[in-house]
Amino acid sequence: MIKFLIKKCLREKECFWEARTRVLAWYAGLTALFIGLSIPIFTELTIIQVDRRVKEDLLEEIEAFVQIYSHDIENNREEDIAIIFDHFLQYKIPGDKTFLITTINGQFYNSSPLSLPQAISRNSPLIKNLAQTKKPLRGKNLITDSQVGEILYKAEPIAINGQVRGVLIVANIPEGERREAFVAILIVIKVLLVAFILALISAWRMVGKVLNPIRTLINTAQTISETDLSQRIPIRGRGETAELAQAFNKMMNRLETAFKSQQQFLNDVSHELRTPITIIRGHLELLEYNDPQEKAETISLVLDELDRMGRFVEELLLLAKAERKDFLILEEVDLSELTGKMYLKMQGLGERQWQLESQGEGTVILDRQWIIQAMMNLAHNAVKFTKSTDIIALGSSINNGQVNFWIRDTGIGIPPQDQERIFERFSRSSNNPNTSRGAGLGLSIVSAIAKSHHGHVELFSQLEKGSIFTILIPIKTKL
Ligand SMILES: Nc1ncnc2c1ncn2[C@@H]1O[C@H](COP(=O)(O)OP(=O)(O)OP(=O)(O)O)[C@@H](O)[C@H]1O
Ligand SMILES: [Mg+2]
Repeated sequence: MIKFLIKKCLREKECFWEARTRVLAWYAGLTALFIGLSIPIFTELTIIQVDRRVKEDLLEEIEAFVQIYSHDIENNREEDIAIIFDHFLQYKIPGDKTFLITTINGQFYNSSPLSLPQAISRNSPLIKNLAQTKKPLRGKNLITDSQVGEILYKAEPIAINGQVRGVLIVANIPEGERREAFVAILIVIKVLLVAFILALISAWRMVGKVLNPIRTLINTAQTISETDLSQRIPIRGRGETAELAQAFNKMMNRLETAFKSQQQFLNDVSHELRTPITIIRGHLELLEYNDPQEKAETISLVLDELDRMGRFVEELLLLAKAERKDFLILEEVDLSELTGKMYLKMQGLGERQWQLESQGEGTVILDRQWIIQAMMNLAHNAVKFTKSTDIIALGSSINNGQVNFWIRDTGIGIPPQDQERIFERFSRSSNNPNTSRGAGLGLSIVSAIAKSHHGHVELFSQLEKGSIFTILIPIKTKL
């Protein structure tokens, strides 16, 4: 298994930098660190535990002695200490590796068991020393012999009639118990190692599973090119990875739409430019055969077409600019005064039954020039699709926290199915009688200007009755 994984890693080269490898390396490192730290702590704690138990045992032996013989000690004669010790050693069976040693008048007297390790034998310095004590003693003696190790002891002087007559020494060699503890610890270490390796393998698989959608995401992203934006990531289950796939797919949808509309836009632009170029070219080719009057007419026509192209290019530039953040130059504007100015300006567009329907009162914050441009576009359309006997009315008002500007006409109207579409670039209504005249950019510019003011455009229109275009902008109170 591990061999297979390593081979796979080497084949795919980048494996060592993969997120999975890095997560695993951190996981393995941290787990190894915690195990590495916990083993010595665990060992130390176990030894402390063993020693504490041994010390408790020593104390128990002494307490047992004191409890049983306290009455005898208080009431007996000095010589009876030997009898008491004999009795105690005869009936008290010491635990494993525990030694009961008695001394009388500073001399070794008896022990249980009889054979003692060298370090606590009758002539050993430790026993000789402890035999002299007048106070209870406890301690540990380090013995260099690796077989014996450490000796823990407790020495209790026994006093009869206020005189210390003998000493009861309880000693223990905890090495055996410690060894047993070490064996147990070794087993724990082995189990931990196996668990660690198993945990690593499972973690490798789990992390792989978690990261699988990301791998699919990378593969999908790699297959996406400008010519094929149709690929999507299959969404499985829930959670962050599913959300990531969902977000990626949504982004791809937006990209695909944007890319399609960009292509459509380029098609439309080249189509719009091709017509005037063909007209200009045709006229210029015939120019040398024209008489002077025809030449003058041709030149005026060509200039007209060039003007149209110039306007077209400028409108495109304006649309591109409208997406920028610094597009607007906001200022405080007197609504009534602005409406009056626009009304005067509009009347120059053509002879119609012009009306100033309403003039809102108050100061509003907006980009004066762009609002005029938008309203002039609307007025231009109204003129285009009305006769001289038709009414074109201009109005403005402040309503529900919004400033409204509208142009109402009694012209040809717009069929319901076209009312949304005409705001798109290059689109014209199906009942447009003179399709070749406009590029179809006017309303998209109006819409872009409204949007840049965080507003929108509303249209109400009925065929043969007329249309009302309203720009609605939320009122801004501060610049
Ligand atoms: N007041 C109106 N009455 C009837 N139809 C209208 C009116 N305003 C706009 N339209 C329809 O909406 C279409 C799109 O208008 P828009 O202003 O975007 O383009 P255009 O006027 O054709 O060209 P451009 O404004 O770029 O010169 C028009 O071609 C027309 O069919
Ligand atoms: Mg227009």
